[in-house]
Amino acid sequence: MSKLWGGRFGKATDTLLERFDASIGFDWRLYVADIAGSIAYARALERVGILTADEATAIVDGLEAVEAEFDAGTFAVLPSDEDIHTAVERRLGELIGEAAGKLHTGRSRNDQVATDVRLYLLSRIPVLREHLRGVQLAIVDKAEAHLDVMMPGYTHLQPAQPILFAHWLMSFFWMLQRDVERLDDLTRRVSVMPLGGAALAGNTFGIDRAALAAELGFDRISENSLDAVSDRDFIAEILFWAALLQTHLSRLAEDLVLYATAEFGFVELDDAYSTGSSIMPQKKNPDSLELARGKTGRVVGNLVALLTTLKGLPSSYDKDLQEDKEPLFDTLDTLELELPIVAGVVATLRIHPERMASALHDDLLATELADYLARRGLPFRQGHHIVGQAVRLAGERGCGLRDLTVDDYRALSPHFGDDVHEVLDFRRAVEQRSAPGGTATAAVKAQIAAAKAVLDTKA
Ligand code: ARG
Repeated sequence: MSKLWGGRFGKATDTLLERFDASIGFDWRLYVADIAGSIAYARALERVGILTADEATAIVDGLEAVEAEFDAGTFAVLPSDEDIHTAVERRLGELIGEAAGKLHTGRSRNDQVATDVRLYLLSRIPVLREHLRGVQLAIVDKAEAHLDVMMPGYTHLQPAQPILFAHWLMSFFWMLQRDVERLDDLTRRVSVMPLGGAALAGNTFGIDRAALAAELGFDRISENSLDAVSDRDFIAEILFWAALLQTHLSRLAEDLVLYATAEFGFVELDDAYSTGSSIMPQKKNPDSLELARGKTGRVVGNLVALLTTLKGLPSSYDKDLQEDKEPLFDTLDTLELELPIVAGVVATLRIHPERMASALHDDLLATELADYLARRGLPFRQGHHIVGQAVRLAGERGCGLRDLTVDDYRALSPHFGDDVHEVLDFRRAVEQRSAPGGTATAAVKAQIAAAKAVLDTKA
């Protein structure tokens, strides 16, 4: 079978180049979008009189038959099928004959592929969004079920202040919420139809682009044909979206991997989300989370790959743009599999409050003492210094801040009163932080209510 563009060539394509050039091995996934675009385009051609009603019907029926072959897995790809657009058109010709050759009137694969990828992405975004909400729901459920559990909060991975486990977990809810918002925002820029841009300069047959866009479910049409065929910003945006989402998931995974170690023992993964070792019978490894962390490399890599491809491209379409698809597909596939796994890990996670409680070292209360002195009028910086001396004293004695006596404290500062031990209480320290956004139970309850409201309204 001769090529779509074979007319001016006197010689066959080098076989290696044919392989190098071909995208059918991966862009076959666009067949639903490609055929939907072609059906709508055939109708548009009929409206401007390029196709008779009979021809349009033959083309539409033929395209539906091609789609059915893909659906059934019976579509036979030929070595000469460069890409999905070529393959569909070739098969349409075999099925309906000469009329198939009229479908491409005024259209180029350049506006066709840009349209296909956008349609394809629009079909996958709702699925990703739903999976992301699944992780958020698991987080909210788990936080709510363990509202009374305290744990050490860390900065620099050093014990800092006591917090609620729910507060730690909910911090990831808000990262993911921003990811949901970014996804909704970028979807507006995906929903722009390039069809009618043709090769680069626009459509000669006066097709009604607005009607085409409405038929295909796009919000808008592109305003510039050169931009239409070469804009891959929307792919860069979703790849960045994914890279940042992956970064958030990776940080959650890292915390949980650490908290699940024998040394921490704060949490335990369900068997369904762990694997064993081929040599060490005792091992229960958090592979689910390690891969959620590890996949970040390829997802960030996919973003960098695309940006590197786009940088320095001459105006309008260049074949380099064919390199947009594999990073996109890989990233979407990765997240679609990973997000429900992360949701499952969180939903089935076992919490060990007693292990968290035993990690609450007295030093986590040092700030309480400094705050105590501040309430008694001492400048915080001075109080900070005095409490530092108390920490040192306790360290020298091998005891905790709670074991120092009132006299010990008073020797460090006359501002300490008989009631100093009242502030040396983990629960009290947590409940003190009651300003909105803090770790006090009431504040975390309000946070969870806000999270639920967001989940309900943005369904
Ligand atoms: N397979 C190509 C791609 O993905 C389709 C567009 C080809 N256009 C062209 N003028 N060769 O970008």
